[in-house]
Amino acid sequence: MPTVTSEKKRPAARSAGRPAPELIFGDLWEYDPSPETADPRLKARYDHFIGGRFTAPASGKYFDSINPANEAKLAELAHGSAADVDAAYAAARKAFDTTWGRMPGRERAKYIYRIARLLQDRAREFAVAETMDGGKAIKESRDFDVPMAAAHFFYHAGWADKLDYVAPGRKVAPLGVVGQVIPWNFPLLMLAWKLAPALAMGNTVVIKPAETTSITALKLAEIFQDAGLPPGVVNIVTGFGDTGAAIMTHPVAAKVAFTGSTEVGKIIMRSLAGTDKKMTLELGGKAANIVFDDAPIDQAVEGIVNGIFFNQGHVCCAGSRLLVHEPVAAEVLAKLKNRVKVLRIGDPLDKNTDIGAINSKEQLGTIERLVATGVKEGATMFQPACKLPSKGYYFRPTIFSGVSMSHRIAREEIFGPVLSVLTFRTLEEAVEKANNTAYGLSAGVWTDKGSRILKMSTELKAGVVWANTYNKFDPASPFGGYKESGFGREGGRQGLLDYCKLA
Ligand code: NAI
Ligand code: MG
Repeated sequence: MPTVTSEKKRPAARSAGRPAPELIFGDLWEYDPSPETADPRLKARYDHFIGGRFTAPASGKYFDSINPANEAKLAELAHGSAADVDAAYAAARKAFDTTWGRMPGRERAKYIYRIARLLQDRAREFAVAETMDGGKAIKESRDFDVPMAAAHFFYHAGWADKLDYVAPGRKVAPLGVVGQVIPWNFPLLMLAWKLAPALAMGNTVVIKPAETTSITALKLAEIFQDAGLPPGVVNIVTGFGDTGAAIMTHPVAAKVAFTGSTEVGKIIMRSLAGTDKKMTLELGGKAANIVFDDAPIDQAVEGIVNGIFFNQGHVCCAGSRLLVHEPVAAEVLAKLKNRVKVLRIGDPLDKNTDIGAINSKEQLGTIERLVATGVKEGATMFQPACKLPSKGYYFRPTIFSGVSMSHRIAREEIFGPVLSVLTFRTLEEAVEKANNTAYGLSAGVWTDKGSRILKMSTELKAGVVWANTYNKFDPASPFGGYKESGFGREGGRQGLLDYCKLA
């Protein structure tokens, strides 16, 4: 709990002892700043990581990675071209044929454990770098992203010498070289999700982080060097969509894995039609968080807040639609607004900050455009009157009530801190509304009744259904979608099956 260090700004109504309900959850006092001070140890320039070495781009071109919290330049990144991608695949192929693909699983496990431990050793430094590069609040990168990334390496290291149990009765073999492209919302964690199962299974990798958030990937490359990972096992090429496309369509790739927008997922599917590459896609979402009248309301409100405002709403499984049972709709909405009023938005490096910066100017524009359609189409918008920093990309937590299923804000992925509230009267109506979307990644159910949870989780067309909680993750638990949210699973035994051949 943050400590209250200044009471100077308490409103008069409170010090006079009179209850002021509208203020009780309002802006009662300011906290003193509490900036994180660990050194992120950034380099001024990052090259690709190919064949175990940092390698300058063939084109000689670099682009800037900026800090979205204040628009300051953080570092330069190599601009990847087809020649760089070719070099990365050649290194990965060689590593697969000569070292990694032939190594017993128990030996591979040692490297993966080493990576996990070295990441834990440098956790604070990685958390600060992640926050500076991507804009997320330090408490998230520190308490969620970095520990979860390490957990994925630990978990998959544990599998590397037990692969006979991935598909009991069958023999598993690695696929070869895997091409992977990841987005900017969980840069290090998505990297771990993609790399750990691929490596445990004996594949080698060419991966591209997102253009706005590549720094922690290249810092992890330093750890690969320190861990003595054989050259070429992981190759990191930085760049934009064209670099990503070169990775996805490369002839050496036996399998490709992509996480990002549904739009790009469809482009990748089209470009690979007719090839024999294996493919997994983890795309967008428009999850429903469903609250019944017997739910523990206060916990549900925390879960709703965590479901959509966590990580600025840059979460594919965000609970961006709240479906609330009519008898408790007014109460839930009132409590939700009170809770949102005390969320702290601002400097992501401040340990008190709940909502950090939006990842990029482009994403801020997307959020603003969609929110404007919500207002135009007649939904009622609520935003707390919090001050935003004058520089950087920020967006207030936003709640729309009076939303109907036809509104764009109820249908399209906003990928920002924006919640659309709808109501329902019966379980059947809740299921119908929840499933009435092109996506199917996740959902949440809040109720006291176990039977209702089971019924809902059967009926909801979503890869993950959380009950009386939201955004809970574990490396042992498979994650992935239905419909336009993609296919394939990440995590658990199921995730490993997507990185092997069965004999
Ligand atoms: P995006 O899908 O363009 O970017 C994700 C990754 O794909 C990046 O590394 C990018 O460089 C790469 N990429 C772009 N074009 C590519 C292509 N033709 N072939 C291969 N790789 C390519 O996502 P963007 O434009 O950053 O965000 C747009 C929207 O996508 C967001 O507003 C959000 O709704 C959704 N999104 C969903 C994510 C998820 O986790 N499911 C993550 C990021 C964005
Ligand atoms: Mg950046």
